[in-house]
Amino acid sequence: MKNSFVVSFHSSGSFNRDHHRQKRRHSTDDLNKPLSVRSAFDFLESAAMSTNQKQQLRAGMVGMGMIFDETYRPFFERAHVAGVYDRKFGDVDVPLTAVASRTGSRAEKYRAEAGNAIGPFQNFAGGDSATKMVAAGVDFACVATPDNRHFEGAKQILDAGVHLLIEKPSVLTLQELDELVAIARRKNVLAKVVYHKLLDPDHKRLRTLVADNVLQHINNGYCSLLEPKSISGGQFAEWIQGRNPGTYVAVHYIKLIDFSFGGRLKTITATGQRGIVGPKDGSTWDSNQMRMVYEYADGREAAFDIHTSWVTPDNFPGYVEQEVQFRFDNGVWNGHSRKRGIELTVEGKTPIELKTTINTHYNGKCLEPWGERAQRGYGIEVIERFVRELAYVEFAGDASGRAARLAEVQQLSYNDLASDRQTVAAVQALEAILTHAATGEPDCVVRVNDSRGGLVLYRPGSDEPKVLYAPTV
Ligand SMILES: NC(=O)c1ccc[n+]([C@@H]2O[C@H](COP(=O)([O-])OP(=O)(O)OC[C@H]3O[C@@H](n4cnc5c(N)ncnc54)[C@H](O)[C@@H]3O)[C@@H](O)[C@H]2O)c1
Repeated sequence: MKNSFVVSFHSSGSFNRDHHRQKRRHSTDDLNKPLSVRSAFDFLESAAMSTNQKQQLRAGMVGMGMIFDETYRPFFERAHVAGVYDRKFGDVDVPLTAVASRTGSRAEKYRAEAGNAIGPFQNFAGGDSATKMVAAGVDFACVATPDNRHFEGAKQILDAGVHLLIEKPSVLTLQELDELVAIARRKNVLAKVVYHKLLDPDHKRLRTLVADNVLQHINNGYCSLLEPKSISGGQFAEWIQGRNPGTYVAVHYIKLIDFSFGGRLKTITATGQRGIVGPKDGSTWDSNQMRMVYEYADGREAAFDIHTSWVTPDNFPGYVEQEVQFRFDNGVWNGHSRKRGIELTVEGKTPIELKTTINTHYNGKCLEPWGERAQRGYGIEVIERFVRELAYVEFAGDASGRAARLAEVQQLSYNDLASDRQTVAAVQALEAILTHAATGEPDCVVRVNDSRGGLVLYRPGSDEPKVLYAPTV
């Protein structure tokens, strides 16, 4: 019944049945027909609609760079062929209908390359491209622009009453987070963030052991993620000025720690090195080391060190080398991207053209045993999962139940923007500490929820703390 009813879905969240009503309005001729003939007509018409007119979630995409190619592209191409289906919400079409980027050139290149692997989409370029994209008519939009440009695109999307999926880190300050969450609540739409490492099967297993109290009380740990020089020198060269690898990748681990172990974030410290990507006394960082201290309900604490770099030699075999170690009262969890996986060597190809260490769990192109070519992994699954949550909100029942379904999906703390507070607080603190270090004030400390405010920066030698965020985090 539900499938035959919904024709298209509008960003306000209400279903547009006008078109359906118009189609169903019988002519006076119809009304003059005997009742049995009219019922037969109704039955045939609604049967035809249920097979011909699918539910639809039209997608927009802001940013057509590396992550679009790696994860969004395979999702949209798969959805173009198969849609998204679940017994709860039925068969949903998810066409990519409009994209926005700085110059539009990568989108045109993609259109040419993809051919009929994707449907027709409009391509908008320039500073106001996101606004034009939403005006073209989309039901949800994804933001994958450089980290410090997420907020502006995300705000335009939410302001238009369009559901939002935003790449990590969601935003760089709690002030921005508050604004986006408030708009999403006002417009009754979803505002979610992509932390794909939470869907890594290893991290799911870790969290399960913690949830089941097999691993008891986290005490401390370290995480490290090393990106090759080609990332800072090539891929990101356009926007890397004044940026750091910490915000970009440490945030994966900040969220993993926050989501897996819970607790209250208390203190953030950070340092780093400069001189390869930019001048040694400039504001662009080669590598960063940050420490977070958490406190748990029983008053005990844990400390976590997160090391990141984007200047690792390109021929280092651990491409995007990832390592974690978490120590508990009664156990140790050791994870290493190279030890769990594959080391591939192909003469003349590895480690530059083909990677030596392949994370097929995250993203792998493969020939399925049944002959189909596919690209799969948790990097793609996390996007599909968002679309499924959205389809559940819009299509898993009638309009009277939508508010309850929306509230239910907003409760999912792994991806809802409203649950990203401590992660954004850690990012905001890291950014502030590095900014001060680059302007001659190293070794600052940020404390969370102390007597002076929610996020307070203390500078060595100064008795004037700086309140970065006044409300409680
Ligand atoms: N999930 C992950 O593991 C993962 C991996 C890589 C990147 N990312 C995140 O994805 C985001 C993008 O990274 P990337 O590697 O794709 O970067 P990229 O530099 O390859 O691409 C950035 C894209 O954004 C567009 N853009 C820049 N400014 C814009 C603006 N003002 N309006 C519209 N478009 C704009 C550019 O034209 C380009 O298409 C970053 O936030 C990054 O942290 C996530």
